[in-house]
Amino acid sequence: MRNNLPDINVSEPCVVIWAVFVLSSVMGYRPVIIVHGILDGPRQFEILSTFINQSHPGTSVTTLALYDYICSMKPLWQQVDGFREAIRPIMERADDGVHLICFSQGGLICRGVLATLPMHNVHSLIFLSSPLAGQYGDSSYLKYFFPKFIKSRLYRFCYTTWGQGISICNYWNDPHQRERYLKSNIYLAPLNGEIEHANSTVWRDSFLRIQKLVLIGGQDDGVITPWESSIFGFYDSNETVVEMEKQDWYLRDAFGLKTLNSEGAVVKCVVPGVHHTSWHSNLTVYKNCIDKWLN
Ligand SMILES: *[C@@H]1O[C@H](CO)[C@@H](O)[C@H](O)[C@H]1NC(C)=O
Ligand SMILES: *[C@@H]1O[C@H](CO)[C@@H](O)[C@H](O)[C@H]1NC(C)=O
Ligand SMILES: *[C@@H]1O[C@H](CO)[C@@H](O)[C@H](O)[C@H]1NC(C)=O
Ligand SMILES: *[C@@H]1O[C@H](CO)[C@@H](O)[C@H](O)[C@H]1NC(C)=O
Repeated sequence: MRNNLPDINVSEPCVVIWAVFVLSSVMGYRPVIIVHGILDGPRQFEILSTFINQSHPGTSVTTLALYDYICSMKPLWQQVDGFREAIRPIMERADDGVHLICFSQGGLICRGVLATLPMHNVHSLIFLSSPLAGQYGDSSYLKYFFPKFIKSRLYRFCYTTWGQGISICNYWNDPHQRERYLKSNIYLAPLNGEIEHANSTVWRDSFLRIQKLVLIGGQDDGVITPWESSIFGFYDSNETVVEMEKQDWYLRDAFGLKTLNSEGAVVKCVVPGVHHTSWHSNLTVYKNCIDKWLN
């Protein structure tokens, strides 16, 4: 998600032809794979790649150029298919595993990728300001797609088959429309174990293969709403934020988060003073929240 919105070229194909930006392939550190957010692409991650190259020289850093910019609106399960096939060969070449850094909407894509790659070898999974428990708030990117929308009414569009064909609706979580959300949402609700589904056990086992889960976010993000969604908190029906540890799906350990946390594998890094579009270019954030998990 970003503020400087790109020109739309509606004819731009969202094809599964992808390019990779590999900085170096010298062995030593585990390869890092970066998954971008909504309305952005690899260009927004050049600074982060430089930080990694400087602190961990020789690391292979791949920012996937897939479903960039306007194509990032495509439904998330479709994007997951593309990202998974791009990530799979990098994992297969990495005997010691890989690290994943997933920004914003990209965090939700990473979760879908891991769910459907049960033998993955992700070591550190780093979510950089990602709406992990959903989004309920207006922001520049939403206005871009729905110029006249009112957040309290967006459910009417999002919680339909048609709406679920747009990425944002796959994690639109209206706290006043729980029943409709649980009935219509085909992405976040099953991933967070808010609804039962045939793959719950497989997805949970896959999630538990992660060695370190790093949750990064902060109160001045300005886009992720509530910002606590980046650390798995979310609104109750009164729009009061309920923290991760008190969420129903956490207490039920529906997708493995409670187990990971009890093993000390979950790290929260909350940083004030960082706007959503600055997370990946802020050296303080990199040094305090990311650097040490990239060995
Ligand atoms: C990585 O860092 C090395 C050493 O500072 C530098 O020579 C190289 O150009 C950098 N590579 C990239 C792709 O930034
Ligand atoms: C379960 O996973 C398989 C393989 O990824 C997929 O084809 C199927 O649609 C999934 N079922 C549900 C209910 O999500
Ligand atoms: C919401 O607020 C009302 C009135 O203050 C209260 O009765 C209700 O229990 C609250 N609901 C939740 C989920 O906290
Ligand atoms: C970088 O993050 C720090 C907090 O760690 C913040 O004070 C600073 O304003 C940020 N810089 C930018 C350019 O966002």
